[in-house]
Amino acid sequence: MKDNLGREINYLRVSVTQRCNLNCVYCGCENPDRDEMTADEIEKAVRAFAKLGINKVRLTGGEPLVRNDITEIACRLRKTDGIKKLVLTTNGVRLFELAQELKAAGVDAINVSLDSLDRENYKKMTGRDALPDVLRGIDRAIECGIKKIRINSVLIRGFNDMQADNLIYYAKDRNVDVRFIELMPFSDAGNNEKLIVKADEILKRFPFLTPVEGTMAQSVAKYYEAEGFKGKIGFITPVSDKFCSQCNRIRLLSTGKIRPCLGYDTTYDIREYLNDEEKLLSVIEKAISSKPAGHNFECAYGNVHAMNKIGG
Ligand code: 5AD
Repeated sequence: MKDNLGREINYLRVSVTQRCNLNCVYCGCENPDRDEMTADEIEKAVRAFAKLGINKVRLTGGEPLVRNDITEIACRLRKTDGIKKLVLTTNGVRLFELAQELKAAGVDAINVSLDSLDRENYKKMTGRDALPDVLRGIDRAIECGIKKIRINSVLIRGFNDMQADNLIYYAKDRNVDVRFIELMPFSDAGNNEKLIVKADEILKRFPFLTPVEGTMAQSVAKYYEAEGFKGKIGFITPVSDKFCSQCNRIRLLSTGKIRPCLGYDTTYDIREYLNDEEKLLSVIEKAISSKPAGHNFECAYGNVHAMNKIGG
């Protein structure tokens, strides 16, 4: 369906948990609320969203793969009428174990959040010495035939910005796109504008990257290619170049609340209406209609939000 500003909303991000097995500097993952919707509740909610025109679902967290029933959830959502695409964002720590099951459940594509290819630096960013697990997880997902795998990296000045080279070269020999997301104002690290590494700055360091025309139309990322590289390099610029006018997404939190915009705390609780279709559809319609015109990150620095509660 369309929101009040005429944007077609067809993409739902479902945070299935606030829990995470990492503790990244920019996320602010503290005191997760363990009162999570069950697989059954998530399925009911997604069925209603699909009736209103949602056709793509992304499972996110926290870290979605810490839920023991994650493949069960994936399986059910993939079979839901109207859902044409089911994708997942993970930190990859448990991907080696789960890639095969996720593929069998019908997961079409996986984004892996990976901010460093240096083991020590990865540990500093995430609080855990898990880089080898993530790398073998990605290889496993490729082997299992998951068609599209992308890396998402958040560069933070003074923490991991020197890893841009390593990350870019990761796309040379693999059919994996590497995308840099500008640091958004979540958690203490994210609240410092000076730490943001903007797309322009990276592009200046890598003049061999040439733009791929027309990519913003299909994705929030602007893609670049380099000769001899199998994967593309993408930039997601919520801070330096807002793309809110093209926003097609809505978020469902693990506690059963709809969050219409990443930038605003306003939520709509649907958990109590999951068995009352009429009321459920009307609250979802209201939440979609009310999406703000754009996020307010420029005013947000200094206020702490936690990304693990929202799912990116
Ligand atoms: N700024 C930018 N991206 C973030 N993510 C999590 N927190 C932030 C932040 N403060 C990213 C994760 C993941 C995606 C869901 O959101 O790295 O790739």
